[in-house]
Amino acid sequence: MRKRNIAFELEIYESREELHDEAHELMLKAVEARKNAYAPYSNFQVGAALLLENGVSVIGNNQENACYPVGLCAERVAIFQAGAKYPGMAIKSIAISATSMNHIVATPAAPCGSCRQAISEYELRQKQSIQIFMMGEIGEVLKCNSVGDILPLAFTNSFL
Ligand code: THU
Repeated sequence: MRKRNIAFELEIYESREELHDEAHELMLKAVEARKNAYAPYSNFQVGAALLLENGVSVIGNNQENACYPVGLCAERVAIFQAGAKYPGMAIKSIAISATSMNHIVATPAAPCGSCRQAISEYELRQKQSIQIFMMGEIGEVLKCNSVGDILPLAFTNSFL
């Protein structure tokens, strides 16, 4: 038996104001995007904004459904929209922001497992890492340099 440690570097910013201009702007787009979330069941609104290599940004927000599993997270709404509208254009970074009608979200919202898997597909497809900036509505912003960092041992097309 052998053991392997998997570690990654997480950058922690005190607030979004500490981010560099490009990331700060992208985070503001995620904040704006979450205002149009359709989340009548969870009351938890998430916004995601992607920055593409050509400078264009693409946004998404969570879209819920009375049949709960049919709803889709903000990150996948955004990344599928980017894939549909700008195929072949690399995604540089993703900013995520979440808020709730029930409480203040002060903890950075990390993408769910399904969204990590979806982002991983795009990262592998473009052969370029996607930076992920995560925040709640106030407080710290976390940044990781690749979705691979938060989805180690990912399932990929190499298994097929
Ligand atoms: N949600 C997202 O949009 N992104 C995530 O990464 C986690 C969860 C949404 C799904 C659902 O509409 C609500 O948040 C509560 O789970």
